[in-house]
Amino acid sequence: MSKVIVHADKATAAKAVAATIRDLITAKAKASQAAVLGLATGSTPLPLYAELVRLHREEGLSFRNVVSFNLDEYEGLSGDHPQSYRYFMEQNLFRFIDIRRENTHVPAGISADAARTCADYEAAIVSAGGIDLQVLGIGRTGHIGFNEPPSALSSRTRRVHLDEVTRRDNSVFFGELSLVPHGALTMGVATIMDCRQVELLAFGTGKAEIIRKTLQTQPSADCPASWLQNHARCTFHLDPEANALL
Ligand code: GLP
Repeated sequence: MSKVIVHADKATAAKAVAATIRDLITAKAKASQAAVLGLATGSTPLPLYAELVRLHREEGLSFRNVVSFNLDEYEGLSGDHPQSYRYFMEQNLFRFIDIRRENTHVPAGISADAARTCADYEAAIVSAGGIDLQVLGIGRTGHIGFNEPPSALSSRTRRVHLDEVTRRDNSVFFGELSLVPHGALTMGVATIMDCRQVELLAFGTGKAEIIRKTLQTQPSADCPASWLQNHARCTFHLDPEANALL
């Protein structure tokens, strides 16, 4: 059963999730283990990443023992493309903290064999010991990562086609719709369900309807985020606007 927390605003939500991540990293470091984080992109996690950077700079939180796996990447974009998710992570988080680059994983947007890249990504997650905590946003189609409807509960890291709603939503970052890739590589719903803990963030009125659908309809492939209702340890962090229709 997933849990919902309505925060005063997105800054407060970001601080709460950052504190959870700090506690995980600290506990793992004490046990001489790596903390394995699943990371997300989009505008939603930006205040979270800003708070993690602050914890690093002002409170000495080290990411030396962190291994990260990002959810997804646009097909056809290399890591140095300004709209790639590898670039996003570099600009908004990695360059400000002491994470080892070799410990950071983002699916390769360009590869000779996408199926192989996806299978290798799943294998890398398993060999890291699985993901301890996955950060998620949500798309207005109900996507998590780039698992557009319909996405089966059993889906794994794979190549997907982007919904036109998603392409339009994300075109603001690209400047024009025609520049938005049609495909992506994304962890699957099963990959996300395997994460030991999930922290989903959703802010603003634009997310209110999909949050209602996600939490108040029967879990189904038509709203991939709704599968999270069955996750053993999943928290939805909302601001009052995203909570408006619950
Ligand atoms: C993108 C990402 C998702 C993200 C979603 C929401 O397409 N692939 O992981 O959750 O869109 O984006 P935003 O946070 O900007 O609303």
